[in-house]
Amino acid sequence: MDFLGIDIGGSGIKGAPVDVKEGKLTAERHRIETPVPSVPEAVAEVVAQIGQHFKWQGPIGCTFPAVIKNGVAYSAANVDPSWIGTNGEQLIAQKTGQQVVLLNDADAAGIAEIEFGAGKGRAGVVILLTFGTGIGSAIFVDGKLVPNTEFGHMEVRGKDGEHRAAARIREEEVLTWKKWGKRVNEFLNRMEVLFSPDLFIIGGGVSKKHADFFKFLKTRAEIVPAKMLNEAGIIGAAMAAAQRFK
Ligand code: BGC
Repeated sequence: MDFLGIDIGGSGIKGAPVDVKEGKLTAERHRIETPVPSVPEAVAEVVAQIGQHFKWQGPIGCTFPAVIKNGVAYSAANVDPSWIGTNGEQLIAQKTGQQVVLLNDADAAGIAEIEFGAGKGRAGVVILLTFGTGIGSAIFVDGKLVPNTEFGHMEVRGKDGEHRAAARIREEEVLTWKKWGKRVNEFLNRMEVLFSPDLFIIGGGVSKKHADFFKFLKTRAEIVPAKMLNEAGIIGAAMAAAQRFK
């Protein structure tokens, strides 16, 4: 059975039906720009438009770039602050008329990578980090997720970690791969001191270019690029819907 997965990001909202047994999209993904400002009503409206595009009737899984507990956003680092305290799950369910599960974007990407991608079959402590507008995180112990970790906000050199090492910062500050790679390495080393993971999975759009910066990364743990790239969020969201509404 297919479930609709939708990935809400800072710049785009993307969705597609997913075969959750295979971990594959079953139709071409549909993308609409994230509204500005990214207030809850407007974002939920775009999610509904994506549902309509697929004439979707059935459960929907949705990612969001914030801490999400029981459908409610508890943070809003890169989205409109009015999200804090909003029950996004309820709002999107009203707008779409479907059952909805809302979860953190990096957690969703991690769920997909652990089941079908770079973390498949890996026991122990696995940390997935997504480098994009911010830094998202997901930590797994023998395949089981600890939800809503926010490692991207770990302080590094007196700054929010994602303000030094997110992929967006490389572009904004026009950093060389080497300079940015060293910042990412410092971030990974701090993570390693705290958690001693067995594997780091590096995700986000920039993971496509891993050859440009992996040479600057050195940890005791193995470091691998994510396999599912920009589909991980959609697939993980659909998997979360399948779990909740099976
Ligand atoms: C947010 C996280 C999110 C990450 C990636 C951070 O700024 O606090 O919740 O997972 O960005 O989007």
